[in-house]
Amino acid sequence: MKNFVDIKDFTAEEINALLNSAIENKNQNLSSEEILSGKNLILFFEKNSTRTRLSFDLSVKQLGGSSIILNGSDIHLSSGKESLSDTIKTFSLYSHGVVMRVNNHQTILDTLEVSSVPIINGLSNLSHPCQCMAGLMTIIEEKGSLENLNITWFGPITNVAHSWIEAHSKNLGFKLSIFSPDRSRDLYLSKINKFKENINLENIIHNQIDDKILSAADVIMTDTWQSMGEETNKNMIKELDDFRVTKSLMDKAKKDCVFMHCLPANRGQEVEESVIDGGNSRIWEEASNRLHIQKQILRALI
Ligand code: CP
Ligand code: NVA
Repeated sequence: MKNFVDIKDFTAEEINALLNSAIENKNQNLSSEEILSGKNLILFFEKNSTRTRLSFDLSVKQLGGSSIILNGSDIHLSSGKESLSDTIKTFSLYSHGVVMRVNNHQTILDTLEVSSVPIINGLSNLSHPCQCMAGLMTIIEEKGSLENLNITWFGPITNVAHSWIEAHSKNLGFKLSIFSPDRSRDLYLSKINKFKENINLENIIHNQIDDKILSAADVIMTDTWQSMGEETNKNMIKELDDFRVTKSLMDKAKKDCVFMHCLPANRGQEVEESVIDGGNSRIWEEASNRLHIQKQILRALI
């Protein structure tokens, strides 16, 4: 494993190996290892972050290494005074790996061309693979495996949803159904075309909620309706109304169906408070698994 940019870059075996080792190491309660002793990780954020920042920073420290956090405005790249290439060559001199949260996924792809150290995608406008891995881990812990599970997504087809679509394409055992308005689907399709992503979407995206699929749902997920840097207007918000995760929607799913959300969440918009803070919500398990899966990604890469 050289970089961790997108789920599509890995085989099902590689994904399962990461997930299984992350769960095993979590259960062994390895809070301190020295495998990254003498190694430094740069965390570079062009957009805000709470969980990704905290969990990667702690991950590298628990593995015995150090970290330097840089916000976009801290460095010359953002003011156009230095090229991406010179920035990344400098990062490579001072680190053994770089986590990047970027406005444009192309920045990560261009970085791969010049970096001599592993690059990890900490969220882009296209994808959020670390989040999806933490979600997969949470579901395996909850349900025992991914086999025959019905995973459903409601609302805009965001970067997080894209990583779920990629994970689904790896035949990991689960079925994925996405319920989203036409406009959101079209925005998504034009984005993946721009990045020349070739992915089979047959029978995945639905523009209306299908009660039969909902009644078999093991997992219900959503994301903010206002992703960072994405266009949102009143009409789009209005169209999303039908896709809000409400208590009555959860009641139509299986009794043990769990709710998941990458966070940050807007209670009352994409999800009702009674769902996100209710007994079937696994948002905190998912958020805390960011640490465990990312430690595993660092173990594999650096
Ligand atoms: N889910 C997630 O990536 O959270 P942050 O934006 O807080 O990092
Ligand atoms: N889709 C959200 C995810 C935040 C973790 C965003 O890009 O803002």
